[in-house]
Amino acid sequence: MKKMTINSIKKSKGVTPLVMITAYDALFARLFQEEADVLLVGDSLNMSFAGKSDTLSATLEQMIYHTNAVAMGAKETFLICDMPFGTYVNKKEALKNAIKVFQETPADAIKIEGGEDKADIVAHLCSNGIAVCGHIGLLPQAVRSEGGYKVKGRSDEGRASLIKDAKAIEKAGAFCIVIEGVKADVAAEVAKSVLIPVIGIGAGNGVDGQVLVWSDMLGFFEEFTPKFVKKYLDGASLVKSAVKKYSDEVKTREFPQEIHTY
Ligand code: KIV
Repeated sequence: MKKMTINSIKKSKGVTPLVMITAYDALFARLFQEEADVLLVGDSLNMSFAGKSDTLSATLEQMIYHTNAVAMGAKETFLICDMPFGTYVNKKEALKNAIKVFQETPADAIKIEGGEDKADIVAHLCSNGIAVCGHIGLLPQAVRSEGGYKVKGRSDEGRASLIKDAKAIEKAGAFCIVIEGVKADVAAEVAKSVLIPVIGIGAGNGVDGQVLVWSDMLGFFEEFTPKFVKKYLDGASLVKSAVKKYSDEVKTREFPQEIHTY
């Protein structure tokens, strides 16, 4: 697949829904590259890769390490690196850390969580040569301050504030926006309110593309499955039964056979 650019991503709006998948390593990135328009090195890796209970302890070094690994596996795929919690608290910090990502990885863009409240930071990054993907709605980095993962856009006020967020992030110069955990009709309205693509996760079918966390989508993450996840593979069961077979065959000396032996 031809590598997407900021321009082709923007132009895809209203044409074909964008396919975004998270990736954390070269092995899976290589498997995803054929179908993914965009790979997101999400800070969700702190949960499914590092085993933590939320994304908040992910570090910039961790994100840089995984972004480089993904880039090695998918050299021709548009790559977004998620900025972890605490790395974009103000314009100066955000720019310093985003420059570090751009200098130490081949990431095409970074993603930051937040709406109108982060618009000045997005504008500062964009005016300094950093391509920014916004992230509005349910913000995983706010899980502790909000006391859980809360679906957004349930009230008229919530709906209006999401539209304001999207417009502010667009005006600040972002090239696309991820919208998470939002009622489908509201997410569709948000997508219609801006000219840049709005990519949904748990936001229904009326947006400009979809993103899923790869380990949810392929059924490897067993802790919990959000309602919006469709499992395209029962990865955990397949791996467990393959490992059981290997273990049984080692114990019974069925493996290795002649063909596996020098
Ligand atoms: O970290 C992540 O994987 C994300 C997705 C949920 C969009 O931000």
